[in-house]
Amino acid sequence: MTKVIETSTPASALASTLSSIPSGSVFILTDTTVEKLYLNQIAAAVPQAQCIVLPAGEEHKNLESLTKVWEFLSTHGGTRSSILINLGGGTITDLGGFAAATFKRGIRTINIPTTLLASADASLGGKTGINFCGLKNEIGAFHDPEAVILSSSFFRTLPDTEILSGWAEVVKMALITPGIPYTPQQIFDINPLDLDSDVSELLKIAVESKRDITTRDPHEHGIRAFLNLGHTAAHAFESLAMQRHTPIPHGIAVAHGILLALTLSDSAHLPAASPFVDTANPSVASPLVDTANPSATALLSDTANPSVASPLVDTVNPSATALLSDTANPSVASPLVDTVNPSATALLSDTANPSVASPLVDTVNPSATALLSDTANLPAASTLSGRDLAKSYSEFLKRTYPSLPFTKADAHHLAELMLHDKKNQTAGTIRFITLPTVGYPAITPFTLPQIEATLLPLLN
Ligand SMILES: NC(=O)c1ccc[n+]([C@@H]2O[C@H](COP(=O)([O-])OP(=O)(O)OC[C@H]3O[C@@H](n4cnc5c(N)ncnc54)[C@H](O)[C@@H]3O)[C@@H](O)[C@H]2O)c1
Repeated sequence: MTKVIETSTPASALASTLSSIPSGSVFILTDTTVEKLYLNQIAAAVPQAQCIVLPAGEEHKNLESLTKVWEFLSTHGGTRSSILINLGGGTITDLGGFAAATFKRGIRTINIPTTLLASADASLGGKTGINFCGLKNEIGAFHDPEAVILSSSFFRTLPDTEILSGWAEVVKMALITPGIPYTPQQIFDINPLDLDSDVSELLKIAVESKRDITTRDPHEHGIRAFLNLGHTAAHAFESLAMQRHTPIPHGIAVAHGILLALTLSDSAHLPAASPFVDTANPSVASPLVDTANPSATALLSDTANPSVASPLVDTVNPSATALLSDTANPSVASPLVDTVNPSATALLSDTANPSVASPLVDTVNPSATALLSDTANLPAASTLSGRDLAKSYSEFLKRTYPSLPFTKADAHHLAELMLHDKKNQTAGTIRFITLPTVGYPAITPFTLPQIEATLLPLLN
């Protein structure tokens, strides 16, 4: 498991991390901007390290840069016991991670993220890769770093746009994580450019949440997909901007993509009152069950204990759902996904009797209860209706982020780009991560006209 170290002195943290990992040759990969700012400081902790410097920017997350890294490792004594230290933003941790995943069939890495975005998101969770044939992250691999050394000391030199870009991923994590000690409005009121204690507090929550989700679902068979809130649209925004040679930072695209996801969540009239069941409309069984794609119900599976196959949705063996049994009333089985008898799902919203502590507790893997937390004890603001959430978010977006370089005339093209992203496509619809209630994301299919119509008012 990746060791995550938070420190104000990243060079000494690196020296002590390396001393605990027996290794051969050490390499540091960075980009030209970070080289000038931080390479000397970090390399001083590893005097024997050989340095590889790539041109800065997402447009260099490509095969040419990757080849340079492979060549350097190959011609400078890289072996299976080498370690590659990725010092930089998400471009470097993604590309360096993939170079390491593939060189000699896999060498170890340590990530030292220097942007807010890479600290909150890209450096953690093992996704690595490069862009290819004009497509984002088309080639890649899962390759967990040995350690991630996080230090907000790097953020002082970040341009405002990069802080805002990273903040979008922090806000995303806060929105999909249940039970955090912030209401959505409190999050939207934070000015990320202040870099004060609220910013670091939410960054910690984001890091913890990403670690939790990616540990439980490392290869995105289930809940890890929720991390893609806002990303279906974001990738379309980034692709079109790239085609027009006016690239936009990833997080700025994500910030706008989240608005589309929240607006779609509202337009689909997804349940807001209870994150688990729409008791008024039982056919929308539960946002935790992907009714459009039942196999995706592995979403809820206990990835820490794979032998316990999908305890939350074991329709083949309903008695296995006893794992989730109402401890106050154990004879009641299968509360979560009783699709045969939807009204039984009311058990999941035992708001009348909140003292029944968390009937959703996963007793095999108690930490999994984070995502299934007791609805009775969630902060009141998390019951914000989908409409109010989208409205609040929209005001925050307008106040804080630059607008997208697109007009209403681009709506159809953008919606088509989303549809053609095969990862999200099912039978002519696009599967979106939606957020009916803060902390409880779901997966919902939409048609191209639905998306286009929702996108239109969001563009200039
Ligand atoms: N693997 C994942 O799970 C994951 C998650 C989210 C994003 N990503 C990827 O991350 C990439 C974006 O990452 P990013 O936003 O960090 O971009 P980036 O790495 O391109 O960095 C942005 C710019 O900031 C500069 N920079 C870096 N650190 C700096 C510092 N401390 N001070 C001043 N300038 C600094 C860089 O040189 C670059 O010019 C995208 O390719 C995206 O696809 C990956």
